[in-house]
Amino acid sequence: MKILAVANQKGGVGKSTIATNLAMAMALTGARTLLVDADYQANSTAAFDVTPDPSHTLSAWLPRYGRAPTLHHHPTMPTLDILPAFITMADDEWEAIETRVDPLKLAAPLRTTYATDYDWMIIDCPPALASFWARVALLAAHRILIPITPGPFPLIGFRQLFNRIDYIRHHALNPSLRVLGVVANMVDVRTMFGRDVRALLTSITPDAMIFRTEIPVAASLVNAQGRGHTILDDDPQNRVAYTFVALLEEVLDRWDKPNDLMPGTN
Ligand SMILES: Nc1ncnc2c1ncn2[C@@H]1O[C@H](COP(=O)(O)OP(=O)(O)OP(=O)(O)O)[C@@H](O)[C@H]1O
Ligand SMILES: [Mg+2]
Repeated sequence: MKILAVANQKGGVGKSTIATNLAMAMALTGARTLLVDADYQANSTAAFDVTPDPSHTLSAWLPRYGRAPTLHHHPTMPTLDILPAFITMADDEWEAIETRVDPLKLAAPLRTTYATDYDWMIIDCPPALASFWARVALLAAHRILIPITPGPFPLIGFRQLFNRIDYIRHHALNPSLRVLGVVANMVDVRTMFGRDVRALLTSITPDAMIFRTEIPVAASLVNAQGRGHTILDDDPQNRVAYTFVALLEEVLDRWDKPNDLMPGTN
């Protein structure tokens, strides 16, 4: 099983949108895919018909619960399952920090429990990478995909993210962690940032780090989310649906040649 975390320190850049649509694109190829919602805002969970149960989230491996969680199937896609998130993870996070739970104690079973049941695990990370759940995600993941929204403030949180990845690797907490790349989301050609995304991104990260696929700003994506769908099951012929297929192809292509360049750490 390959584990991909979709992460950025910055909020609202499309982590959940990319995690859910990419997971659906993977599942559509027949790959057994597990989407893990590590954010108690539970945006990725919204597309699944799930009744809240605090003990069947990532919290399941905390001492308070202490057993593997039950997963849920996607309502229509047989190869897509979810480990959901609920708001109760906010209290559990507070307790985990207060009682000094080591996030590795949760990352380890997350890595191993489903290793033979799935081909892919996609983790939708919360913003604020210092949070307990983000740590669990980054300690479990093999690769990180970083969504960025081209705008005047793309650098916010970017340096912190790379510092954190560097720390995790070099302190042998998760030596296999690599950055898969940076993907531009909500590209709006009406803005100067949207017209020349690559110029903007190369000002903060090496060119090799940037995905060729750019996701446009698209009302169809938001409307699909409003109906509890991804664009791939809501409107498969939509041009944005093809964007996620292209993104998946690039993820597969990059997987074994991840980028070792660490901008912001020198
Ligand atoms: N390509 C896009 N075009 C139009 N709207 C988008 C696009 N991508 C995401 N959005 C919208 O932008 C908002 C933020 O997206 P999303 O929730 O995926 O970001 P996030 O990084 O997961 O946010 P958070 O940090 O709160 O978890 C949502 O309302 C979503 O519908
Ligand atoms: Mg989110």
